[in-house]
Amino acid sequence: MKKTILGALMLLAATPLLAWQGEVAIETPNTRLLLTAWEGGDLRQSYYGDKSATLQQLRDAGDDLSFEALPTFGSVGASHLPALQVQHMDGDQNLELQVTDYSTTDDGRAVVHTFTMHDKLMPITVKLFYKAYKHVDVIETWTEITHQEKKAITLNRYDSGHLVLRQGDVWVTHLHGNWASETEPTMEPLTQGLKTIRNSDGARNSHLDAPELMLSLDGRPQELTGRTIGFALCWSGNFELRMNTVSHREHHVYAGIDPTAAHYVLDPRQTFETPHLAMAYSNEGQSGISRIFHNWARKEGMLHRGMQTGDILLNSWEGIYLDITEEKIIKMMDDIAAFGGELFVMDDGWFGDKYPRKVDNSSLGDWVVDKNKLPNGIKALTDAARERKLKFGIWIEPEMTNTVSELFEQHPDWVLQRPGRDLRKGRGGTQVVLDLTNPKVQDFVFGVVDNLMTQYPEIAYIKWDANASIENYGSTYLPKAKQSNIYVDYHLGLIKVLKRVREKYPDLVIQDCASGGGRANYGLLPYFDEFWVSDNTDALQRVYMQYGTSMFFPANAMAQHINHVPYWNTGKRIIPVKFRCDVAMSGRLGIELQPKDMTPEERQQCTTCFADYKQLRPIVQTGNLYRLLSPYDRRGVSSIMYTNDQRSQAVLFVYKTDNFYDQPLPRLRLAGLDASKTYTLVEKNVRVGEEPCKLNGKQFTGRFLMDVGIEIPLWEDYASRVFELK
Ligand code: GLA
Repeated sequence: MKKTILGALMLLAATPLLAWQGEVAIETPNTRLLLTAWEGGDLRQSYYGDKSATLQQLRDAGDDLSFEALPTFGSVGASHLPALQVQHMDGDQNLELQVTDYSTTDDGRAVVHTFTMHDKLMPITVKLFYKAYKHVDVIETWTEITHQEKKAITLNRYDSGHLVLRQGDVWVTHLHGNWASETEPTMEPLTQGLKTIRNSDGARNSHLDAPELMLSLDGRPQELTGRTIGFALCWSGNFELRMNTVSHREHHVYAGIDPTAAHYVLDPRQTFETPHLAMAYSNEGQSGISRIFHNWARKEGMLHRGMQTGDILLNSWEGIYLDITEEKIIKMMDDIAAFGGELFVMDDGWFGDKYPRKVDNSSLGDWVVDKNKLPNGIKALTDAARERKLKFGIWIEPEMTNTVSELFEQHPDWVLQRPGRDLRKGRGGTQVVLDLTNPKVQDFVFGVVDNLMTQYPEIAYIKWDANASIENYGSTYLPKAKQSNIYVDYHLGLIKVLKRVREKYPDLVIQDCASGGGRANYGLLPYFDEFWVSDNTDALQRVYMQYGTSMFFPANAMAQHINHVPYWNTGKRIIPVKFRCDVAMSGRLGIELQPKDMTPEERQQCTTCFADYKQLRPIVQTGNLYRLLSPYDRRGVSSIMYTNDQRSQAVLFVYKTDNFYDQPLPRLRLAGLDASKTYTLVEKNVRVGEEPCKLNGKQFTGRFLMDVGIEIPLWEDYASRVFELK
C-alpha cells in the first residue's frame, strides 16, 4: 500500500514542469546583481557590484557566469557546501532545483524579484526572493520553502542567501566581543578553507559574534575608499555566516540560521520563510557600507524609530540598581529635569508582591508593583514625571521568569525545560526562559506590555531586557518530533508578540536590551527604537565599542549614557565628565548615575552638554556618518563625524585615547563635506571653566578640511572636543 502511494507521488512529481529561462538584472540606484536561468536549470549568479558590468561584457571577458545562486545538497559538486539541504520524508537528501517561474512586484519603494523553483523529483517548492530598494543600495534575499510530500520533511540546512565573489585579495571584517566589551572589529584576509562565524546563545545573538560582516574586495579594509560588500542577517536567534574559499580563489559566502540542534521539521503545505539577508555594496569603503545600512535602517523601516530622534534620558540602573524607593525616584526626576533632560526611566527592581525583587534572584514574571518600595504605585511616578515635564519609562524582562516567582509556581510548564533533567538556571541562580513557542506564553508576554500600558497609559518608553541564554533545550508545548524546532520557533514566537505590541502601541518607544548589547540585530530592530550598546558605560571603552557598533547600526539606535567615575569595571581611573559627555553625545544621549552624588562641575557640564546636544541632535542621530580615525589603530586619537544630507552642517567628535609626551597626533582630515563650501567651526560642550579652543569661530573651505586637515588641540589625558560645522 505504502509503495503504491509513494509511486504515485513520484510520478506526479516527475511530470515535467514548465521551465523558465532568462536573464535578470536586479538593480538599486548604484548596484546590480546579475542572474541567469537556462531552460531546465537552477538559478545562476553572475555578478554583484556597481553598474559598470553587463552580462555581455562579462561574457566577452571570459568570466565564469554560472555560480549557483542557491547551492543545494544533491546538485552542487561534492566539494561545495550547500545553502539548502532537505531530508525528504523517505530519507533522500537530494534536491535538484529548476526555475519554473519568475515574477516581480513593486510597492514603490522596492521591487521584489521572485524565482520559483521546483525539485525535479519530489513536490518541493523553493522560492528565492531578492528585494531591491529604489532609494538605497541594499538588496535583501531570502527563501520560502514549502512541500506537498505526504509527511513532514526536515530542513537540515536553510541559509537565507549565498553570494560568490571571484578572485582578489578579499578581507573580512566581523565584530567580536563579550558581555561589557561588545563589538570589536576583527579584520583578516580570506584564505583557503572555511571560516565560520556563529552564535549559539539561543535567545540573544550579538554579545560574542555578530550576525553582520563586511568584505573588502581591494585588500586591507579602508574606511573611505575601496569596493566593499556588507551583509546583515536580519535574525535574532542562532546564526551561521560561512565564508568558503575554494580553488580558483572563489569566495562563497553563506548566511542563515545555524542548523546545529535546529533541523527544522516542516509539515506538508506549511511554508518556512528564512530570515532576510541584507546585502549592500559600496565603492566608498567601510563607512560607505555603514551609511547604506544606516539609511536603509532609518528610511526603509528596519529600525522602528525611523528618522525620529530619541530623548535625553536618565536611567536609574547604575545610580541605584535594585534599591528603588519612591523618594529616590522622584529626586532623580528632579535632577534630570534640572539638567534639561526629557525622560526618566525606572529600571529593574520595582516589581514583585509575594516575592519582592530585592536581589536579582526572584520575581521576573510577577509584573506588579512592590508596594513596599512604591507605596503609591506607578501612577504616583507618572504624575510626578508629568509635573516635571518629563516622560516616564519602565524596565521589564518579559520573556523570562525566576524559579522564585508566582508565575513559575502557577505555570511551571511555561518555561523551556528538559523533562526528566534538572533545570539549568542563569542569573541569580534562578533565572529561566519562558517557552515562547507556546501561544499561551506568547499571550502572557504580550499581556505584560498590554497590562502596563492599559493601567498606565502615560508610560512613554519601555526597556525590554533579556538576560538569559536558552540553557534548557526542551519544550513541553512542541511535540516530540518537533523539539528541534525550538531555537527557531522561540524567535518566531517572539516576533509574533512584538508585532502585536507594535500594532497596538506604535508610538511607544521600546529599547532592546539583552545584558547590554546582546540583541543588536536587524531581526528585532523593526520592532524597537534603539538598543543598549553595552552594560559597560566606561567612556574610554565606549569609544571603542561605539566605533564597532556604528559599522552596522545608526546613531539614533545606539543608547549611550554618561556614567559615574570611578567605574566598577575599569579600576580607579577618573575620566573627566567632559570626555564622558562627549562620548555619550555621539549617539542617543542619556545619563546613568545617581545625580545627587555629582559634583557641581559634573552638574554644570551635563547641563551644557544637554543644551548643546539638543541643537546638534538631528545631525548626530540622523546624519551621515564618516569614521575618520579608529581607536583600534592606536594612533592616540579617535574621531567620527556626521553631516546632514545637504552637506551644509556637520558635527565632529575627537577623543584622545592615550597620552604621551611628544606624541605625534595625526592631523585630522575630515570627510563628507562639500569641497566648495566654507564652514565655520564652533566648539560645543566646552569644558566647564575653560574657553573654547583656538579653532573656534575659524572658517575653512570643505576642500581644506578634507585635503589638508586641521590639528585639534588635545593636550591632557582624556582630552576631547566637539565641533559644529556650519
Ligand atoms: C541588564 C541590563 C542593564 C540593567 C540590568 C537590570 O544587565 O543590561 O542595563 O537593566 O539588566 O537587571
